[in-house]
Amino acid sequence: MKFLITGAGGQLGKEWVYYLQQKNLQYVASSSSDLDITNRTLVFETLEKVKPDVVVNCAAYTRVDDAEDQIEAAFLVNRDGVTNMADACKKFQAKLIHYSTDYVFPGVPGDKSKFPDGYPESADTKPINVYGQSKRAGEMILEKSDFTDWLLIRVAWLCGPFGSNFVKTMLRLSEGRDEVGVVNDQFGSPSFSFDVVEKSMFLIRKNETGIFHISGKGLISWADFAEAIFSKSGKKTAVKQITSKQFPQKAKRPHFSYLSTMKLQQKNADILEWNYGLDTLLTRLKIDNT
Ligand SMILES: NC(=O)c1ccc[n+]([C@@H]2O[C@H](COP(=O)([O-])OP(=O)(O)OC[C@H]3O[C@@H](n4cnc5c(N)ncnc54)[C@H](OP(=O)(O)O)[C@@H]3O)[C@@H](O)[C@H]2O)c1
Repeated sequence: MKFLITGAGGQLGKEWVYYLQQKNLQYVASSSSDLDITNRTLVFETLEKVKPDVVVNCAAYTRVDDAEDQIEAAFLVNRDGVTNMADACKKFQAKLIHYSTDYVFPGVPGDKSKFPDGYPESADTKPINVYGQSKRAGEMILEKSDFTDWLLIRVAWLCGPFGSNFVKTMLRLSEGRDEVGVVNDQFGSPSFSFDVVEKSMFLIRKNETGIFHISGKGLISWADFAEAIFSKSGKKTAVKQITSKQFPQKAKRPHFSYLSTMKLQQKNADILEWNYGLDTLLTRLKIDNT
């Protein structure tokens, strides 16, 4: 099985490349400078040349706050880029693995009691920020396409050893700080990049298609997550619980963005408890987590 990884310089793309190297699988990794997924001609030329069995699209416009002002740029990558990938995969008969986000859901506080196990794949979407809208537009490209050999995998609060993410930010902030303010009114569960890659492979090997959620088990707030990061890595830094209002950001954030992994469990996948995922990540970051 030969893989083409797009967005290979990003957090998830790097994890995919790491995995494929470890497993000695055949792949071509394309970063944004090798393959701009908004360049339709280049996308087609690349698939014709590489002849992948599986295309893993890790390329995305992910700057949530900037997207509020750069609407066209976000839609160009997250919607039109997906059109190019799907059309090229159809033409060259490759399976497409595409990633999306918890931010496609409305995340209103009431949904926390309505969906105690998290949003199922079939729940109504209603993104509340431009990034979420652009990612949902990309999802709809696949849903409406007559090309059907795709997996659309939603992840949330993505964290891993590569790139920047909440865990690495908290570890950095803890250096020389006694206290860090973290919001306690946004709830979800992290997806760990290594788990996302392993479970994506599990679905690929089973030749699954359609929408799946890959995320951690257990509902937490960002403040809970920060406390666990500090305690497991032996940091003395305290978490000051603050509200979203006390931490204004340009783009609105959902209060609730827990993804149900029931569909994955029904395929006999073991779901990773978020705190075990954090242990693994801290180990990979070579932090003493005793
Ligand atoms: N990070 C999260 O918390 C999170 C949460 C939920 C879902 N997701 C989704 O998970 C997926 C992976 O996210 P990530 O955290 O790995 O993002 P990331 O670290 O920002 O990586 C995205 C990569 O895409 C590349 N890229 C941007 N525009 C491109 C283009 N036109 N053509 C080719 N490559 C392009 C970027 O390259 P440059 O840096 O050179 O621009 C970057 O290397 C995305 O679909 C994202 O929407 C992420």
